[in-house]
Amino acid sequence: MHKLDEQIRILDFPEMGDERGNLVVIEGGIAVPFDVKRIFYIYGSDTTIRRGCHSNLRSEFVLVNVAGTSKVLVDNGEEKRIISLDKPRMGLYIKNNVWKEMYDFSEDSVLLVLSNEHYDASEYIRSYEDYLARLKEAPEKA
Ligand code: TYD
Repeated sequence: MHKLDEQIRILDFPEMGDERGNLVVIEGGIAVPFDVKRIFYIYGSDTTIRRGCHSNLRSEFVLVNVAGTSKVLVDNGEEKRIISLDKPRMGLYIKNNVWKEMYDFSEDSVLLVLSNEHYDASEYIRSYEDYLARLKEAPEKA
């Protein structure tokens, strides 16, 4: 079993702003621990919505609330943690095989997500029971 601390990481992107405003740069393999293959963003969700609710066999993610705020529950089957994303220079890295749920979106939330993999529906585990059962079968993944 892995410690959740080894499966997630808070990233603190350097501010490169000046008197004209703020600038945050995210370079694959430098500011995030993978080469970026996919970018998507989630907006227009609100406090009643729960998104994610899956784990991924291969995809790793970095989540950044570039506007507004949200919360992320991460769970490796043994430990759970809630992380508040509340500034554009903060990232949350989540390794593969970690269950995650995003919720409590502020009205102005724009949640940017970077991933090391292209989209492949077959590597998404969308049932929590299935997730736990797979961990039991192959605990080295947890
Ligand atoms: P979903 O995985 O439920 O989004 P999230 O977990 O971020 O809340 O995806 C919603 C829909 O969008 C689903 O039909 C699959 C599709 N989708 C893609 O086609 N490519 C992608 O990279 C993502 C994240 C989703």
